[in-house]
Amino acid sequence: ATDGTPTASDVSARTPPYSKLLRRLHEVRRILSPSRKLTLAEKILFSHLDNPEESLLEGTDNGANIRSQATLKLKPDRVAMQDASAQMALLQFMSCGMATTAVPASIHCDHMIVGEKGADTDLPNSIKGNKEVYDFLESAGKRYGIEFWPPGAGIIHQTVLENYAAPGLMMLGTDSHTPNAGGIGAIAIGVGGADAVDALVDAPWELKAPKIRGVRLEGKLSGWASPKDVILALAGKLTVRGGTGFITEYFGPGLESLSCTGMATICNMGAEVGATTSIFPYTPNSHGPYLQATHRGSIAEQASAIAASPGPHNLLAADSDCHYDDLVTINLSELEPHINGPFTPDLSTPLSAFKSTVEKNEWPTTFGAGLIGSCTNSSYADMTRAESLVQQASAAGLKPKADFFITPGSEQIRATVERDGTLGTFTEAGGLVLANACGPCIGQWSRTDGVRKGEANAIFTSYNRNFPARNDGNSKTMNFLASPELVTAMSYSGRTDFNPMTDSIQTPDGKDFRFQPPSGIDLPSKGFEAGNPLFQPSPPVPNPSVSVAIDPSSDRLAVLEPFEPFPQGELQGLKVLVKVKGQCTTDTISAAGPWLKYKGHLPNISENTLIGAISADTGAVNTVTDFDGQSHTIPDLASKWKSEGKHWLVVAEHNYGEGSAREHAALQPRYLGGKIILTKSFARIHETNLKKQGVVPLTFVNEADYDKMNGCDEVSTEGLYDVLQGGEGDITLVVKKKDSGETHRIPVKHTMSKDQRAFILAGSALNLLAQKSKG
Ligand code: F3S
Repeated sequence: ATDGTPTASDVSARTPPYSKLLRRLHEVRRILSPSRKLTLAEKILFSHLDNPEESLLEGTDNGANIRSQATLKLKPDRVAMQDASAQMALLQFMSCGMATTAVPASIHCDHMIVGEKGADTDLPNSIKGNKEVYDFLESAGKRYGIEFWPPGAGIIHQTVLENYAAPGLMMLGTDSHTPNAGGIGAIAIGVGGADAVDALVDAPWELKAPKIRGVRLEGKLSGWASPKDVILALAGKLTVRGGTGFITEYFGPGLESLSCTGMATICNMGAEVGATTSIFPYTPNSHGPYLQATHRGSIAEQASAIAASPGPHNLLAADSDCHYDDLVTINLSELEPHINGPFTPDLSTPLSAFKSTVEKNEWPTTFGAGLIGSCTNSSYADMTRAESLVQQASAAGLKPKADFFITPGSEQIRATVERDGTLGTFTEAGGLVLANACGPCIGQWSRTDGVRKGEANAIFTSYNRNFPARNDGNSKTMNFLASPELVTAMSYSGRTDFNPMTDSIQTPDGKDFRFQPPSGIDLPSKGFEAGNPLFQPSPPVPNPSVSVAIDPSSDRLAVLEPFEPFPQGELQGLKVLVKVKGQCTTDTISAAGPWLKYKGHLPNISENTLIGAISADTGAVNTVTDFDGQSHTIPDLASKWKSEGKHWLVVAEHNYGEGSAREHAALQPRYLGGKIILTKSFARIHETNLKKQGVVPLTFVNEADYDKMNGCDEVSTEGLYDVLQGGEGDITLVVKKKDSGETHRIPVKHTMSKDQRAFILAGSALNLLAQKSKG
């Protein structure tokens, strides 16, 4: 409808195919034996299998060992893409020559909008600066029938939650915080663009069956504790690697005290522990009202009916007594607010211990900015709880000491909190409302407070991620993650060692002011406001007469050229480009911020490859040495070697590629001549992305072998070609040391499935797809 309310046919197109899923679940029960207990995640995943019999029984001892063993070939219901990653996904999709996408899909313009002076100036400036890319995305959306949400409409995960996510749905999103939709009971997985293309072209999407971690929530949240604290505390417990290979499934009596949007916050940040995804069961008291408020009452009715059916037929809750591979219990009644950081989301400190932790670590005692909102925390409840604190402080005559920024997650939430006076409360207190977009969360932040690059300083955000240089491009900015309530209250003191639960602030008239605990409202009593009609999406109807806008002279968009296939035989004479020391996130491999501009232009964006990496040999960031002793930046040396016809590999430590689904982190090394990435361990999404682009990810059998390798060493493979052709033998790397000429034989492991080996042989997944479609 023109007023932004979805029509009955919109809602019906956005409803999960419940009858089909229930039939599938029935079939899965038959295949696995009717007495087999399933978790919620398993029910939803298995009812989306392309061929349940094959996926569940092959290589699993006839269904006895599915978790971590089965390769699930899935047919997701929907795909969502954010603008930065959509470019490459669409360039890849276009090369397959289809008239429309096989499943409904949406594009969300959120990542390229800068936060600086406020939405009114930042949005038009960003639209002007990115026009070429938005025109490309919009024209591709119209041509292929993909709903295009223009810049200003909101952040992908908030828009998805408000419009598309539903209990029992399975979706892929080209962004690592896609699991946000698990808050409403969907299985939503963050992937790279090439994986999204699988779903868009109706090729089954592969996932190694994850293990399932149950998180039992007991008690009830109250006072300062918020849903954000559940995941901040859990991240501290599990660490950034603890969720790898797992789906986190929440259950227990504590669910009753959580709102749908609170559950979404928890699932959103499940990405920070590396979980495949996170999910909550359908909770009628939370999900029903949220679906109603977002004009999807018919979905709530269907979900309630399914949830009321007997256990084995209930798609939307785990079977009682199902088995979890790991179990964590959190008592919400005892949960303290937490602050996580700096520089990693798993460094978790309870609020009561934060002051002493600041002192012990000599972290700055003041901070310059408090930022609330983003895809993680901009619900009506978040905003009204923060507002309750601002009201208290304003009544006492106080103003925030730190700069205070608000990023609404969508136009719907912005217009609603504007109508209800919340935004007015923030701006009157001195807060600055940024565009409904990612902005400072993804390095698109032009700070105006004079903090220089390289200057140590602190900020507090209610975002989800805090790797170095993430927000303002300054690797010395310490980003402390906390709930929006805590960020708001702390902004009034401007001190990192302030505890709003126990400490006072002096008011202008010399009195001691202490905050009362925040209070808020889950859903607006007057309903949600649609906001600016210009921010509505294009209709999902393909129009083949639209031509997709790519200017051949563009420096931001380039048609994708296919990669060369794998050579017929073992790899010989590879050189170690860099031996990376310590953490190596996808930000390290392909930096965001100003580079986001070149997402659709592989040659140009490749100039940022690994610029954040520390070389173990030189001890310096982005500094490596060539054979002649000359020092180079990493991308310069890679380009030089590419032009000399030298192929190379990267050696790295644990959890290589953690942090996001950014497929450029795989495409760029591939484009520059990288053949192998050898690590102590990988982050799941990145490892899959490498395989899709034809790069071989290998891990050390003995981690200590990392110490035996250095830059410019020469490496040949033994057994790799045989494995790629389907062999089950071992793979060894023969490493000839650059200096001594000495040789080491280093055993390595791989996780390549049959299909993934075929991608690598073909040169990339897309090459294989194109070969198949040509017959
Ligand atoms: Fe955007 Fe940050 Fe979320 S980049 S999608 S607001 S994690």
